[in-house]
Amino acid sequence: MNVQATVVGTADLASVESDVLVLVLGAAHKVNARGTAAEQLFHAAIKSGDLEAKGGQSLYLHGAQGFSARRVLLVVARDGSVKAFRQAIDGALGALKSRRLKTMAVAALGIELTDGHAEMLCLSLEHTFYVYRHTKPSAEALRAPVKVALCVPSEQLTAAKAGVRRGHAVAAGVGVARECANRPGNACTPTWLGDEARRIGREHGLSVKVLDRKEIEKIGMGSFLSVSRGSDEPPRFIIMEYRGGAAKAAPVVLVGKGITFDTGGISLKPAPEMDEMKFDMGGAASVLGTMRAIGELKPKLNVVALIPTCENMPSGRATKPGDVVTSLSGQTIEILNTDAEGRLILCDALTYAARYKPAAIVDVATLTGACVIALGHHHAGLFASDDELAAQLLAAAGSAQDPAWRMPLDDEYAEGLKSRFADVANVGGRPGGSITAAKFLHRFVGSTPWAHLDIAGVAYKGGAAKGSTGRPVGLLTHFLLSRAGR
Ligand code: BES
Ligand code: MN
Ligand code: ZN
Repeated sequence: MNVQATVVGTADLASVESDVLVLVLGAAHKVNARGTAAEQLFHAAIKSGDLEAKGGQSLYLHGAQGFSARRVLLVVARDGSVKAFRQAIDGALGALKSRRLKTMAVAALGIELTDGHAEMLCLSLEHTFYVYRHTKPSAEALRAPVKVALCVPSEQLTAAKAGVRRGHAVAAGVGVARECANRPGNACTPTWLGDEARRIGREHGLSVKVLDRKEIEKIGMGSFLSVSRGSDEPPRFIIMEYRGGAAKAAPVVLVGKGITFDTGGISLKPAPEMDEMKFDMGGAASVLGTMRAIGELKPKLNVVALIPTCENMPSGRATKPGDVVTSLSGQTIEILNTDAEGRLILCDALTYAARYKPAAIVDVATLTGACVIALGHHHAGLFASDDELAAQLLAAAGSAQDPAWRMPLDDEYAEGLKSRFADVANVGGRPGGSITAAKFLHRFVGSTPWAHLDIAGVAYKGGAAKGSTGRPVGLLTHFLLSRAGR
């Protein structure tokens, strides 16, 4: 995707040569009948009743008089916010996507374009033109425009350029995450994920190590391995390192849940929608995508990504309810429900994270159905042991348009995790299920500032539009950039 910010004054939009010129009007902006050609066009369209000056409205014009662009698409954004701009662009691209246009120009009237606006143009392009084809090559590939010009007045150029650079990287990261997560469990295996991490590392200057079962055993990750026991697919523990900061600067560690398929194990899930459990590596996918974005943006900080990945399957060898396993931390865990497997692979990765003496740890996981009940499909659940880290992540969620909502972590929620046969049980009761899951993880983090993102409701869509969203690559990338002071 080739998006470029260029200086074009509002008065010169009529002479922009392009297959299509998309003009986005802020709804509150009063267009002048004697203004620029672009203003006049909006004015006439609104006056004639063909266009309503209301968010979400649009009008497609072929061969608009006085305009060099072959087509002009007038769209109205609800207001000048980044969110409204994103919605307007999503609508415009949706209307244009099947037309195979080679060049596109985008400009705004009555909206001050910031880096956030420019970033959203890139994300909207990714979102609109991505088609999953790996196991369905017959699906028609959409043709994204080869050149997209974001036309801005000169005083907005610096911000627009910064936004395009960030947007390009985040969009590519989102693309990686979606492609990984969309692949079915028989294609996206732990082995394949490890190979993918190596490929991303090679292409973007990250060092990557992929540990196999023997090496994982040697480290002593008994909890992680107990989940993998029932599966014939070998587990992997992926370690990726990006070094952009001072050699001795404490890194941020990202941990991603990489269950490539979650049957529930012996505590087998019901059949309806079980196929969606191929998305149970959405946390891992978003961490891979974030590392891809960071590899391109090269911020001045150190980042380590840890991905425990395996299948959760029932078999004669599988872990049974009541089994007790010993985690890397030394704590014993009574596995009362083999379907609460995400926390069992994450806890060993969290313990392992301490080896890096990190400045902060953030884990990302499609962890609980309870989080979907609590927050639906809009906000990810954010749990944090540290208020400053929580504030940074919420700010990143805001600037990336990748929403998250903070949830509580009071010790009272850990009550239900008590066990008569081990240091801790892997499930509490049903009430507050996403919080007890977070409290379980909390036990395996020392004093390092730690946050957990439960993305069960936001990592993918079900139903007719089934597929990965690539979230929260935007949030994580913005967070890391902010930690690097960018
Ligand atoms: N991967 C699921 C969580 C999930 C559910 C993700 C729905 C996306 C959509 C997780 O491994 C799981 O099965 N959690 C159980 C925990 C329970 C047994 C305490 C759940 O949420 O039902
Ligand atoms: Mn499960
Ligand atoms: Zn799971």
